[in-house]
Amino acid sequence: MSISALKTINALKQPTSDAWIKQAIANLDIILLDHSHCERKAAGVALNFMFRYPSNTKMVRELTAIAREELEHFELVNQWLEKRNIPLAPLPPPPYGAGLKAVVRPQEPERFLDSLLVTGLIEARSHERLGLLAVHCPDLELAKFYRSLMASEARHFGTYWVLADTYFDREIVNQRLDELSVIESDLLANLHPEPRIHS
Ligand SMILES: [Fe+2]
Ligand SMILES: [Fe+2]
Repeated sequence: MSISALKTINALKQPTSDAWIKQAIANLDIILLDHSHCERKAAGVALNFMFRYPSNTKMVRELTAIAREELEHFELVNQWLEKRNIPLAPLPPPPYGAGLKAVVRPQEPERFLDSLLVTGLIEARSHERLGLLAVHCPDLELAKFYRSLMASEARHFGTYWVLADTYFDREIVNQRLDELSVIESDLLANLHPEPRIHS
């Protein structure tokens, strides 16, 4: 399946709440810092797949490109941090990532399938939220930056979905994606008190 055909796949069960948008726009510096951590982690996740499944040639090829792209995003977000004098400080993550990790089944090959789909869902949510920041951010230059990153995150969702579809039966992939996307939306149903990209 081509990635363009994926546009018909609606991965996210629930759209982001207005409360998240308000919280994010009121705390743009923290959102930028959290975004930096997200991009670094996204590069790390792509690399981890290659450590765990080094013989999956198609996966290694696709994720080499993603890891490189996420590191580029990391660098670009860090330039924004420098511009705004925001130190590259640690930031406790919201419960979202750990919540999704907890539902990845521990045995192979389910672990591989769930990991691909969970990572894809995080990319899909990042795409949605960067889009919201692009629309609502009062700093027009920063809004433009968010818009410039959106397309890659949508493409990354597509890549992880295509990889799942490569190594597993489509029916199993879509059924599990459906289950995981319900969990993903449920995790975001209650707004985390701290502003984060995935709060
Ligand atoms: Fe990214
Ligand atoms: Fe991404």
